[in-house]
Amino acid sequence: MSAETVLITGASGGIGEGLARRFAADGARLVLVARRADRLQQLATELQTRHGIEHVVIPLDLSTADAARTLYQDLQLHNLTIDVLVNNAGFGRNDHFEAISTADHLEMMQLNMVTLVQLTHLILPEMIARRRGIIVNVGSTASFQPGPYSTVYFATKAFVLSFSEGLSQEVREHGVAVTCLCPGPTRTDFGARSRMDKNWNFIHGSMSTDAVCDAAYRGLRRRKRIIIPGLMNWMLAFSVRFTPRPVILHLMQTWQRPKQIK
Ligand SMILES: NC(=O)c1ccc[n+]([C@@H]2O[C@H](COP(=O)([O-])OP(=O)(O)OC[C@H]3O[C@@H](n4cnc5c(N)ncnc54)[C@H](OP(=O)(O)O)[C@@H]3O)[C@@H](O)[C@H]2O)c1
Repeated sequence: MSAETVLITGASGGIGEGLARRFAADGARLVLVARRADRLQQLATELQTRHGIEHVVIPLDLSTADAARTLYQDLQLHNLTIDVLVNNAGFGRNDHFEAISTADHLEMMQLNMVTLVQLTHLILPEMIARRRGIIVNVGSTASFQPGPYSTVYFATKAFVLSFSEGLSQEVREHGVAVTCLCPGPTRTDFGARSRMDKNWNFIHGSMSTDAVCDAAYRGLRRRKRIIIPGLMNWMLAFSVRFTPRPVILHLMQTWQRPKQIK
């Protein structure tokens, strides 16, 4: 049984919930964060009954400017030291750049990048001091190339990958692992929420949440720097390195084109 304390953002559904289930099966104490308190509480109660784990539920909107600090203060109130931080909460938008509101773009950048960096900055020093810890940042196969019609979302995920790789090199000598999980299309609420679910790659190439979370959990336990679940996703991410940029951009435009645009 693991004695770890694991903080997962975006644990109320999808990949975050799937990872919470895997950590709970290993006996971890869970700190679950998202906006939907009822979903978090339901999951925590189920995992407590099934695995006898301890849990703390923190309902919070992580897209506000002071969210990371508020969360960190909550951790201190509960006297919690985090062994594994999973920065998973995130969302995307698929439409013409100018049709997506500035408010949506800023919210996406705040949640996908700024809160992720701030939370890492607050929690990392304790990991370095104890010479142990794992930070999992959820990127995407979108991290590997630009994405027309989801330009800001793809750019936030490129940021997550670059930040994670750089930081992993910096802190590995302190015993801390930083992993970037880069899933391809996955059957969660993300597709409908982002309006990407009708896109070609979602219809023809999506993976189940369980398959993604199994690969993610194996990879993070091996302290892998980058985890790309699924052979097809791995091949696509790898082939981007050798494919001319105009070809990539054309392909991504075809895949990402919103259904109302002819
Ligand atoms: N599914 C895919 O195809 C796919 C592919 C590549 C990468 N990803 C990435 O995987 C991560 C998880 O997404 P998912 O597929 O599991 O989607 P999901 O089912 O929509 O889950 C997203 C999670 O993030 C939470 N969240 C969203 N906005 C939040 C906010 N403002 N404050 C706090 N929590 C918030 C949601 O909870 P509440 O709504 O309760 O707040 C939910 O728990 C995201 O970073 C996403 O970009 C997904």
